[in-house]
Amino acid sequence: MIFTVAIDGPAAAGKGTISRAVAERFGFRYLDTGLLYRAVGVKGGDPVAAAQTLTAEDLARGDLRSLAAGQAASRVAAIPEVRAALVDFQRRFARAEGGAVLDGRDIGTVICPEAEVKLYVTASPEVRAHRRWLEVGGEEAKVLAEVQERDARDMGRADAPLKAAEDAAVIDTSDMAIEAAIDHACRIITARLAP
Ligand code: DC
Repeated sequence: MIFTVAIDGPAAAGKGTISRAVAERFGFRYLDTGLLYRAVGVKGGDPVAAAQTLTAEDLARGDLRSLAAGQAASRVAAIPEVRAALVDFQRRFARAEGGAVLDGRDIGTVICPEAEVKLYVTASPEVRAHRRWLEVGGEEAKVLAEVQERDARDMGRADAPLKAAEDAAVIDTSDMAIEAAIDHACRIITARLAP
């Protein structure tokens, strides 16, 4: 069975948690595509060459989840040649036999417009910044500024900007417990699997 669940949305909206839960529930493989851009961002040197030669070792680095890696990822992700170098790997992963969940910014719009299920997971910038701040600490106002800066860059870039696909179901997690968001996503997938 070929079945793709595309989950897009801004940072700290709950995409990763929902994606992992959904993949486990349905036995699908899971790809966090943000990690690809984070690995390119922290590798240093020419980002296009980094994207073209990305290795499993690059993806296993321990520092990919940091705020700095997120900002570096967002910057290199605006370079069309970087995005182009990562397309084939993501498409193959999405359409391989067995079912796949991919989360990112452009999965439903560019990487896999034919995805069987498209979700756009979002929340207000303040709620997302608060969640991130609980994880990383420091000054909450600075974390909010960082979230807003990354949103602006990801939504404003010319190539594959962050936006909901026209046929995506929007899940706003601002006032929703994560379990409720996971249940909602699972119901949508179940309905598509067995109409
Ligand atoms: O999902 P994340 O926070 O790990 O993503 C880090 C950055 O990578 C994000 O700010 C923009 C970029 N990204 C992208 O442009 N396209 C994707 N499919 C995934 C991430």
